[in-house]
Amino acid sequence: MTETEPSSRLVMSSPQSTNCSMKAQATSSLKKKYFYSQLFLFLLLQLLFTLSLLSYWYLFPLSVQKPCLPAQVAPSITPVLTILLWTWPFNQRVSLQGLRCSGPWTKEANCRITLNRIWYKRAHVVIIHHRDVSSRPSMQLPSEPRPAGQRWVWFSLESPSHLNNLAAMDGLFNLTMTYRSDSDIFTPYGWLKPREGPKNSSLARPPYPKTKLVAWVVSNWKEDSKRVTYFRMLQLYLSVDIYGKNHKPLSTKDQLSVLSEYKFYLAFENSLHQDYITEKLWNNALAAWAVPIVYGPPRHNYERFLPSDAFIHVSDFTSPEELAIYLMILNKDEKRYLAYFQWREHLEVVTRSGWYQEFCKACRILQQPPTYRTLPMLSRWFS
Ligand SMILES: *[C@@H]1O[C@H](CO)[C@@H](O)[C@H](O)[C@H]1NC(C)=O
Ligand SMILES: *[C@@H]1O[C@H](CO)[C@@H](O)[C@H](O)[C@H]1NC(C)=O
Repeated sequence: MTETEPSSRLVMSSPQSTNCSMKAQATSSLKKKYFYSQLFLFLLLQLLFTLSLLSYWYLFPLSVQKPCLPAQVAPSITPVLTILLWTWPFNQRVSLQGLRCSGPWTKEANCRITLNRIWYKRAHVVIIHHRDVSSRPSMQLPSEPRPAGQRWVWFSLESPSHLNNLAAMDGLFNLTMTYRSDSDIFTPYGWLKPREGPKNSSLARPPYPKTKLVAWVVSNWKEDSKRVTYFRMLQLYLSVDIYGKNHKPLSTKDQLSVLSEYKFYLAFENSLHQDYITEKLWNNALAAWAVPIVYGPPRHNYERFLPSDAFIHVSDFTSPEELAIYLMILNKDEKRYLAYFQWREHLEVVTRSGWYQEFCKACRILQQPPTYRTLPMLSRWFS
């Protein structure tokens, strides 16, 4: 092999190359290819070996002495990040899939997520779910001194109207993780993504027959609340089917199929706050192909997340009566009703699939190098 190579090189440089020399040239380039592929494989194996060694060190930093990482290798490797979940949100346990984030959601993410507080001293990040520490913050927040460089993430999908003791969180946290789009880790209840493939006009109409008019699922019924007051007035002109506690029963299993029989859905939020747009819109209305009638933050806030013709906002009308009249017009005019589905030709609805997804999103974002900061007035920001 080593002998043929130089000779073939000689032949190559000669202007009168023969058939024979071309053959030699071909074999030599084959051999060269073979050599480089072997070299590449060797380097790849070396790299893999180094990586696994390094991740072993980061994963099991239990030995008393810290391993000395070779100075020229360490900075170029993204370390495994240890994330301590201070509690299960609302005590709802979820599978952490072997405590490792994987899949397209966490492209390049590499975290070890644990609930075991024994890791507190070594955790790079602690995610703290507000509702689980808000009844007695001084007792429920970590009490041991914070290790140098450890970041605390303040996590809530609830609106400030349903949170207590917000001021107790001031000056403690480094990042926010909420439904607000200006959070460090934005964890919305749902979103739209561009649809793959060519435009398909059959996607611009509901795939189910729509035999009923308006539905509302409500568990937290407060007679004197603004949304119930609005509903009472609407109901004078239009019949609305109400599901939930103290109303028509509806199991989680049947919810989607039942709601998809309706043309409209009342996506009325329980409190009005910037970006507070919940599963009422994403799961109950949009996933069921019911046109959402929204009651929540102003229209322009919804339009940051949805096309303007994807929903009806109560503020589009001067009174519940006017809204009722408009809905009855749409009920009779299929063309106008279907205009609310035009956007589905190129966009599709994604709903949240559980805590796991959010923790993995956190993993991906937290792996970017930390910028040191404290949120002095978290309670003022989250209002
Ligand atoms: C359009 O979408 C419908 C429903 O999903 C599907 O059955 C049909 O094959 C699609 N047509 C094209 C051209 O992609
Ligand atoms: C996080 O916030 C704490 C509390 O204010 C602060 O002491 C610490 O330096 C911050 N850490 C980072 C990494 O910003």
